[in-house]
Formats: sequence, structure tokens, C-alpha cells
Amino acid sequence: MRAIAEAPGKAIITGEHFVVHGAWALAAAVPRKVRVTVESSTKFEVISDLFRRGESPELLPVSHVVEGMAREFSLKPTVRVTITSAVPGGAGLGSSAATMVAVAAAFSKLNSVGLKVDELVDCAMAGEWSVHGKPSGVDPAVCARGGVILFRTGAAPKRVSFDGTRSLILSYSGLNRSTRGQIGHVTRMKDRYPGMFERLAGGIGDLSLRASEMLQGGDLNGLGTLLTVNHAALMSLGVSNETLDGMVDLLLTMGCYGAKLTGAGGGGSVLAVAPEGKEKSIVSGLSARGFETFKVKIPAEGVKSWLER
Ligand code: PMV
Repeated sequence: MRAIAEAPGKAIITGEHFVVHGAWALAAAVPRKVRVTVESSTKFEVISDLFRRGESPELLPVSHVVEGMAREFSLKPTVRVTITSAVPGGAGLGSSAATMVAVAAAFSKLNSVGLKVDELVDCAMAGEWSVHGKPSGVDPAVCARGGVILFRTGAAPKRVSFDGTRSLILSYSGLNRSTRGQIGHVTRMKDRYPGMFERLAGGIGDLSLRASEMLQGGDLNGLGTLLTVNHAALMSLGVSNETLDGMVDLLLTMGCYGAKLTGAGGGGSVLAVAPEGKEKSIVSGLSARGFETFKVKIPAEGVKSWLER
């Protein structure tokens, strides 16, 4: 018997970094998935295609998730965990959070431990702590739930629902970076300029609340404006760089309503909203310049798990 779980990646629409310091963030699931299989074994082992890409930051944290759950629910941690990921690592698209959530879901399924979604997220956080150093929890919260959520640490996430579908454009810079290093940089900015940081965080928290209303109401033009404002705030903290700023400029020049870096910055991806008729040409324009770019429909579904013989 083996248990399988699939969890979507994520994109932070607004509020990254500030969310670590108590502000609201708006985040969406993206339809690229991590698939995890967990089966009984004589020892704990992880087999992952992340190895092949030379990126394995998720592998040690996986053991923290399994060991934490084994302790909490008195389970055997001797399992073989196989991870296949369609979420690129280091791209700001939630590869580690989706992995941790899927591991927690599959391990609990294998052992018939029924967990509510917030309990599952708590289990996944054991891995996130060791990846990020100081995670807000937004990434596993949205990977587990799917759709779009408004998130603030310590509050119950609010689902943002809307009729029909909403599309985003995601473009990968090709540059990897350490989320932990980026979070450390922002924390040093906060320590150095506490008054300025507090006001900026308050402003971005309000911006996230407004952005959720605009997404809900289908005001993509208004949402785009807020994305670009949010990018400027992230630039001011020093978490953007020339490549990401250049991609944002390009997206705006090509007709997007707005664009910003998404995730920890310093590399990773840029997110944009565009008028429906222009999305195709924008995706080809960025791809032609060597940036892997795709249009995604926000999936409603979060993590799911099942048993197989
Ligand atoms: O690891 P990333 O690039 O998905 O970024 C996570 C978002 C941060 O706000 C920077 C950290 C967090 O835990 O909220």
C-alpha cells in the first residue's frame, strides 16, 4: 500500500516579505504540482527528481516533516518518500511549500491520520522553518487550500472567491536565490529603519486587502496598478535587481496592467496581469527574450491525497 499526494505551487500576488512582519498578503495557487508518494520501508529515504536538477533544499526539511509527525502521532518514520516536481525550485513558486504539504498529506494518508487543513499546514511548517528560517506560513497555507487566500500570520486565512476564472502571467528570470538570505536582508532593513518599515508594511497590508477586492470584482486594471506599486515597495527594500526590474518594465511596455516580482525576489519570478486579448503576445514576447513565461489559470483545488495498492 502506498499513499500519493499532489499539491499545487503558489504565487504571492501582493505582500511578500511584509507578511513575515505581520502584514496581510494575497496569494494564489498555481497549476504546477508536486507529487509525493509515501510507502513503508525499512529506513527513512527520499528519492527526488530535485536531485537531478542539482537543487535539493527540500530534502532535509522533508525529514523534519516526517519526524515531527511521527513523534506527534506515534507513527513509524521508516518510509520511502518519492518526490516528482513540476514546480521549478528557487523560482518563487512554492516548490518547498508544495513539497512539505504533499509529504504531510501523503504520510498522514498512509497512516490513516485524519487532519484538517490547518493541522496539515502546521505539520508542513516543520519543514518550512528549516528552509526559510522565518517563514510567515503563507506558502503552505495556499498550497494546501488552493484558490486565492488573504493571509496574515496568526489569523485564520480568508478564502477570496470569485465567479469564473482569473489568469496570471508568470515569467521566470532563470536566477535562483536563497529565500532565507532575502528574508534576512529585509529583517536588517526593518531593524535599521523601524519607523519607515512599519509604515511601509502597514501600507502594503492595506494594499493586499484592496487587491483582494479588485481580484474578486474582476478589476484587473486596478489590481495591476497595485502590483506595480507593490513592486516599487519591494525595490525600495532592496530585494529586486536589474533583471527583475527589466522584466517588470518589459511587461508594462508590452501592455500589462501591472507587474511585480513574486516571492522572495533577488531572482525567481515576476507576476503580471494583462488584458485578455494581449496575454498571448506578452507570453511570446517574454519567452523570445529567454524568460520561461506562461499564463496560468488559478486552480481552485489544493492538496489532495489517496491510497493505491
Ligand atoms: O520562497 P519564496 O520565494 O516563495 O518566498 C516566500 C515569501 C516570503 O514572504 C519572502 C517569505 C514568507 O515566508 O512569507
